[in-house]
Amino acid sequence: MKKIFIAIDGPAGSGKSTTAKIVARKLGYLYIDTGAMYRAMTLKVLTSNTDPADETAVVNLTKVTKISLEDGGNLRVMLDGHDVTEEIRSEEVTKNVSLVSSYPAVRELMVARQREIGLRKGCVMDGRDIGTVVFPDADLKFYMVADIMERARRRQEELSEKGIELPIIRVVKELKERDFKDSTREASPLKKADDAIEIDTTRLTIDEQVEIILNYAKEAAVGEEEMQRR
Ligand code: DC
Repeated sequence: MKKIFIAIDGPAGSGKSTTAKIVARKLGYLYIDTGAMYRAMTLKVLTSNTDPADETAVVNLTKVTKISLEDGGNLRVMLDGHDVTEEIRSEEVTKNVSLVSSYPAVRELMVARQREIGLRKGCVMDGRDIGTVVFPDADLKFYMVADIMERARRRQEELSEKGIELPIIRVVKELKERDFKDSTREASPLKKADDAIEIDTTRLTIDEQVEIILNYAKEAAVGEEEMQRR
C-alpha cells in the first residue's frame, strides 16, 4: 500500500503520543515525537546554566546543539550524542519547555529538522503545529482533545509510574498553564488545522483511538494509490 504522512496534534495528555507510536508500529512507519525535540533542547538549556528567559542565549545554544531521534523499536532521544530519553520527562523540563519552545528562532531550527526527517513518506509525526506549520500538506491530519480532568488523570498516572505522586489539583494547574502558553504564543501556536479530523479521546481506550486512525490511514493510502493510477 502507498505510504502516507500522518500529522497528529493536540494538547498535553490528549493521548496523541501513545496513539501515534502504536499507529506507526502497526503501519511500519517512522514515529517522530516533536515534543521530545523541544524537551531535549530545554534540558540542554537547563544543564548548561543558560537562563531559559534569555532568548538570545537560548537561540545561540540551539544553533550548536545536536538533537536526533532514533526509532529502532523504542524511540530514543539523543542530545549531543547522549541518550536523554528519560531525563527529558522531568518536572523541571516540563516546567520550562513552553518558554523555550515559544522562541521563533528555536522553532525555525526545529521545524527545519522535522521537515527533513518527514520528507521520507511513511511517517507519523506528533506535536502542536505539525498540521498547521510543519507539514500543512500532510496526507492526513488529526487533532486530539480530551477533558482536562481526564488529561490530568492520565498525566498523574504517568507520573505515578515513575514514582512521582502529585495531587490532581496540581496536575490540572500545570496542564492549564502549559495549554495557555502553548496556545497563546505568537509563533505557531497550538491550534486545530482547518482540515484536521478532531478526535475526542475522553471516553476512548487507546485501542479505539488507534483503530480510528488506522481506518482513516488505510482509506487515505488506497485513495492515494487510485489517484496515481488515473
Ligand atoms: O508533547 P509534549 O508534551 O512532550 O511537548 C512538550 C512541549 O513542547 C509542549 O508543551 C510545547 C512544545 N511543543 C511545541 O511547541 N511544538 C511541537 N510541535 C511539539 C511540542
